[in-house]
Parts: sequence; C-alpha cells; structure tokens
Amino acid sequence: MFQINENYLKLPGSYLFSTIGKKVSAYSGAHPDKKIIRLGIGDVTLPLAPAIVSALHKAVEEMGRAETFRGYAPDLGYEFLRNTIAENDYKSRGCEIGPDEIFISDGAKSDSANIQEIFGPENKVAVCDPVYPVYVDSNVMAGRAGSYDRERGIWSDVIYMPCTEENGFLPGLPKEHPDLIYLCFPNNPTGAVITKARLQEWVDYANETGAVILYDAAYEAYISEPGVPHSIYECEGAVTCAIELKSFSKNAGFTGMRLGYTVIPKKLKCGDVALHSLWARRHGTKYNGAPYIVQRAGEAVYSREGKAQLEAQISYYRKNADYIFNGLKRAGYTVSGGVNSPYIWLKTPKGMTSWEFFDYLLENANVAGTPGSGFGPGGEGYFRLTAFGSYENTVEAVDRIRML
Ligand code: MLT
Repeated sequence: MFQINENYLKLPGSYLFSTIGKKVSAYSGAHPDKKIIRLGIGDVTLPLAPAIVSALHKAVEEMGRAETFRGYAPDLGYEFLRNTIAENDYKSRGCEIGPDEIFISDGAKSDSANIQEIFGPENKVAVCDPVYPVYVDSNVMAGRAGSYDRERGIWSDVIYMPCTEENGFLPGLPKEHPDLIYLCFPNNPTGAVITKARLQEWVDYANETGAVILYDAAYEAYISEPGVPHSIYECEGAVTCAIELKSFSKNAGFTGMRLGYTVIPKKLKCGDVALHSLWARRHGTKYNGAPYIVQRAGEAVYSREGKAQLEAQISYYRKNADYIFNGLKRAGYTVSGGVNSPYIWLKTPKGMTSWEFFDYLLENANVAGTPGSGFGPGGEGYFRLTAFGSYENTVEAVDRIRML
C-alpha cells in the first residue's frame, strides 16, 4: 500500500489566497448585486506594456517559422535574457553577478518554494513574523518545520523573527542560529524596507555563522527612497552567503505570464560544494524552462521603451498606494508600508482580529483585503491592502472604508 507525504497533513487549512478567494466568491455568489473591490491578492490589473506585447508577437512569429522555431530552452534560460539581467539588474548597480549565475524560471513563488530542496532536512529555518506563507509551507511539506501549535499558530522547529510596530517591522538578528534565513524586502506583507547598512549586518551575520540568506526581492521595482538596496549583492560579502529571488510579476505585470529568476553566486559554497551546481542539477532534472516567447517578453522589459512604459505603470500603482496610505491615515487608521511597496499594512480598528476585520470590510464596504494573521501570528490585528487595483476602484474602496 502506498504512503503519502504525511507532512502535507500537518498544514492547517488551505493556502491563504485560496481561502480568501473562496470566501470572496461565496459572498459575491450570495450578493450578486454588490460590486466587490478586490484589494487582497497582489495581482496586477494593468495590461502588458506595448513593448512587451510587440516582443511577444515577434517571438510567436519566430515560433511559427521553421528557420526560427525553438524547442526546449537551455537549462539556465536563454543567454539573451541572462545577459540582459546581469547587465541591468547587477552590473549597473556594481554587483559582481555574471549571466551564468542567473537561473531563469517561471516565477519567484515556485523558486522560493523549491529552493529549500537543495538543503538538508535538518537545517533550521528562520522567517520573519509576519511572513509570505510560501516560505513556511514549503518547509512544512519538506518535513523541516516540526509540529504545529494551533493555539499559537507557530511551528516548533521554525525560528520566528518578530516584525512589529516597535521595531519598524524589521527583524532583529536571531539569538538561536538558523541555517536558512528567509528575508523579503521591500517586505510582503508589511511593505517595510531595509537600509543597506542594516542588510549588511545580516550578510555579515550569515557569513560569520555559516547561514544562507534566501533573499526575496520581488518588489524591488517599488523602491522610491535612496539608501534602500535594490539587491542583496550591493552588500559586501553577499556572494558567499545569499541567494536572490526575483520576479517579473510586479514590475512588468507578468502574474499571468510567469517569469522570474534566481541568482546563486558560484562563490556560495557548503565546504567545497557549490550550491549553484545543486540548483543547476535540480533545474536540469525537474524543469524545462520558461517558454521562449515569455523569455523574449522578459528581455523587452529592459529595452528603452519597455523601461519607460513600465516606469509609468509603477507610478500608476504608486499613486494608488499613496491614495490608500493617506486616505486611511486621514480616516484615523494606523498605516505603514506603501512608500517603497505596493502593500499598505494597517492596524485593524476597535481591537478587531484580522479575520473579523476581513468580514466587516467585505460585508460593509464590499472591499476584500488580506487578513494579517494569514501571514503568521505576528500579523494578528493587522490587515493588508494592495495598490494593484485600478485607480478608480482604489479611490472608491478607500472612500467606502472612510464612510464606515
Ligand atoms: C501576494 O499577494 O502576497 C502575492 O501576490 C502572492 C504571490 O505573489 O504569490
């Protein structure tokens, strides 16, 4: 008789955004006359920029001609895209990352879930609290999280690094030494950012203690203030302790296209084993690459027209973030994030729990957001709104909330 991976049974409930989707659909089914504004999952709403659409058309044409047709993509991704990324995202920022240290993938969600596979089962994982649930859930599935304490909403073998209003939603260095440290800046869900000096402390800590930092920089395009690093490799010594995960979803609207990349510097080693070769082996065995047409679309993100058009898209979402942040602040809410991030993190009013506020907002303002407690116990009493809606819907949602 076959056996299942019992670690899956330990997972409480369904994936956060599936639960929210079901709840919103149920409400909308029961109240078909209500216009629900969805500011929950961070999914973009603007269409693909013209430079990207035109690159897609061109690539489709190539795929339809025998002379230019392409089959399987190279293991690490097409060179044209890896060269462009290395030039624009790293060399231009003074980071020593080469094209052959970049692995093209179908997005940062899958990479951030899969990357733990190349580490031993006994590794101790540290996460921020609140945290993007994928980091924790993927380690639970791999049997690395221990047992779940339903009462407290925590896993026995995971180190939680509290991110609170008091510490500006920035984790302190953990007392117990972890092996794998997940960091995400600009942060999902709080929208907090880390300065280069503070990130350097983490890099030094990881190098001193022999830990690896798994750095999720999916929201990097939203950084608007100086002194905030766009890549962990801006910090000295990061090439010997950090893996960086990037996405095309939030900067270029690829949530439905699927494209991302992971950087594993060749100098990042465990003894004499390079993590780069382990991930290359995994990639070769389990993955056949993002589609050629999507990789060509990714290349267009870095073209002159692409950059200008995407800057305009990001400004559009920034304007939404600003409207939410200031609108709610004026209405008396305690808000943070939103400045270098598409996420606004607010304190629930009148001592409501995160889920109570979710229901309250859905029923009374017909606005769907994300309950902070869905990101871990440290998110209880908080709520996340996304700036990825249309401007009109964003204004209407904020105005409805202010009228409550
Ligand atoms: C979020 O809403 O946190 C993200 O959009 C989810 C994701 O990127 O997987």
